[in-house]
Amino acid sequence: MRVLLAGGAGYIGAHTAVALLEAGHEAVLLDNLDNTSAVVAQRIAQITGTTAPLVVGDAADDEVVERAFSEHGPFDAVIHFAAHKAVGESMQKPLEYYANNLDSTFALLRVGLAHGIRSFVFSSTGTVYSDPADLPFTEEATRNLVDLSNPYSKSKLMNEVVLQDVQAVNPDVSITSLRYFNPVGAHASGLIGEDPQGIPNNLMPFVARVAVGRLEAINVFGDDYDTPDGTGQRDYIHVVDLAEGHVAALEKAKPGFAAYNLGTGRPVSVLELIASFERAIGRELPKRIAPRRPGDLAATYCDPAKAERALGWKARLTIDDMTRDVWHWQQGNPGGYEG
Ligand code: WQD
Repeated sequence: MRVLLAGGAGYIGAHTAVALLEAGHEAVLLDNLDNTSAVVAQRIAQITGTTAPLVVGDAADDEVVERAFSEHGPFDAVIHFAAHKAVGESMQKPLEYYANNLDSTFALLRVGLAHGIRSFVFSSTGTVYSDPADLPFTEEATRNLVDLSNPYSKSKLMNEVVLQDVQAVNPDVSITSLRYFNPVGAHASGLIGEDPQGIPNNLMPFVARVAVGRLEAINVFGDDYDTPDGTGQRDYIHVVDLAEGHVAALEKAKPGFAAYNLGTGRPVSVLELIASFERAIGRELPKRIAPRRPGDLAATYCDPAKAERALGWKARLTIDDMTRDVWHWQQGNPGGYEG
């Protein structure tokens, strides 16, 4: 299949491009580079020996998407990764989050459907689930928009509603929403990985920067949660497993709308992740207990059985694989792509 990856030079997009190319598919990247680097396209070529053309522009702009199709099409499928995704930032900038995360979907659907794509895969999130009583989350767990805590998660759930309604009037098209839990890790080559701008909001890249000496100490946001060791639990999934889940979703796509959780189903706490990272580097890391972060849940993790049944996909990499691969990426790229 020939696939357009909107946001394809980003963290998950780049790993998915590698997985697609290694599975014998073709990939074209569309990215405005506002949260990544054009270097990623070269690294993808280095890993796979194949070039994935990069179209620089905004996926929310119909003319840019049209240019991608006219210069590099036809495409069998579109995968839409292009979104703002920082929960905290979305609380400060709701209009930017709703505009960017919805307008990009509208533009990609308008142009993609006009060009006859057969399949559309959407990057969604496990943060669309709104009731912790439903843990472990299956795909049918409660998703009440008004109960979600932030514009980022709400924009993702709104996207899913749009996608279902659009698919209903395009019955021959497959639309798949992949609900990611906590993507972490890096390709085994160490050539691509997570490279957040500024101080990382997320735990794993923050720990990696402490380990490489760019940050002074890890802040553990609360150790008084109702969890076995008191610290927050998340369902961390290796980005390579996640990328392979996208390939499986495309290869198994059937006309209709479907949503799948992409996670391991295994909750891991903050202290367990840090301990795993310390095993990977062979030394202790400086850490301190800090106040809870507003909006954080004690625990979130999924029941991944539906993806295994329907897609024949199951996450196989462990938290020790994740921390080992992050450390390999960070050591080789202490300043990230531009470093
Ligand atoms: C994980 C745990 C924190 C930082 C992220 C993305 C969100 C979504 C899901 C895609 C929590 C604790 C964190 C730190 C800490 N991704 N923590 N010290 O909040 O689950 O959300 O994944 O949809 O977009 O933001 O991930 O890595 O921020 O936090 O103790 O410096 O680590 O309290 O328990 P989160 P996170």
